[in-house]
Amino acid sequence: MMKDLDWNNLGFSYIKTDYRYIAYWKNGEWQKGELVTDNVLHISEGSTALHYGQQCFEGLKAYRCKDGSINLFRPDENAKRMQRSCQRLLMPEVSVEMFIDVCKQVVKANEEWIGPYGSGATLYLRPFLIGVGDNIGVNVAPEYIFSIFVCPVGAYFKGGLKPTNFMVSNYDRAAPHGTGAAKVGGNYAASLYPGKKAKIQGYADCIYLDPTTHTKIEEVGSANFFGITRDNKFITPISPSILPSITKYSLLYLAKERFGMEAIEGDIYINQLDQFSEAGACGTAAVITPIGGILNGDDFHVFYSETEVGPVTRKLYEELVGIQFGDKPAPEGWIVKVE
Ligand SMILES: Cc1ncc(COP(=O)(O)O)c(C=O)c1O
Repeated sequence: MMKDLDWNNLGFSYIKTDYRYIAYWKNGEWQKGELVTDNVLHISEGSTALHYGQQCFEGLKAYRCKDGSINLFRPDENAKRMQRSCQRLLMPEVSVEMFIDVCKQVVKANEEWIGPYGSGATLYLRPFLIGVGDNIGVNVAPEYIFSIFVCPVGAYFKGGLKPTNFMVSNYDRAAPHGTGAAKVGGNYAASLYPGKKAKIQGYADCIYLDPTTHTKIEEVGSANFFGITRDNKFITPISPSILPSITKYSLLYLAKERFGMEAIEGDIYINQLDQFSEAGACGTAAVITPIGGILNGDDFHVFYSETEVGPVTRKLYEELVGIQFGDKPAPEGWIVKVE
């Protein structure tokens, strides 16, 4: 039985669901994990995750299809990205097979928390891997926890896509040779203050420029940037300090393979925004947030419109969302069924 929630009006907030998975890494290997009902962790006060940020996480969704079946979207890509985050922070990796198997188990166990097809509600999965155990110096942890919990979340845009405004920040979320490409908590801690400043000024979030020269766009809050040029190319920034967005790589593929556009990763200079007829931010949460305008110093640059969504942005959004909910054919391997 589906839970009795107001599925059409859910936001993006923590809701305790019935089961989560937890596995411990001890004595050099992953112990057998299990589904548990307790949503509280009991860890050593010396855990490296608490003091030295030795932790990483992921985010992906499960979708209810028209026929009632359940889709996961590219969980192998989240698994591989988590492995790269683990490599960067010297944490033990979880295999792609184990990651996908645990995603399936947790979604299946919480099936009643997936909203009905058509409501736009989905089940958000939050895998995380943290260093735990007694420790005091700057070291790698003696033990680790890998866990996945889930929360029902609502459609990001209720009543259709809406353009949003952003402002360029003078702060950096990541250092030039730092951890920007890894999905680790420290990057997000660094983004809270500039994000708050942007919100106080009336913008949805920050645009981060490349940390070396502050001339090129890197990220839009916790999403990647893309622009559609006036001659119909899809361009998204390339940089070692950007988090490689799975949504972004999916859009690059669809722009090229389904819409015949030239789709490239390249430099996007903040003083050359005139080349774009449309722009957007992309990520798992909203899929695409159309960018109305960007404030850069005293200059406010409007792309397509501050109120209307551009046609290419809309087309890309509908294609990708159609694939995620099983309404459009998926490229091979993009959809994993939860049975
Ligand atoms: C900093 C940052 N950039 C981009 C993204 C978008 O990535 P994805 O499309 O894999 O959700 C996210 C969200 O995961 C993020 O936190």
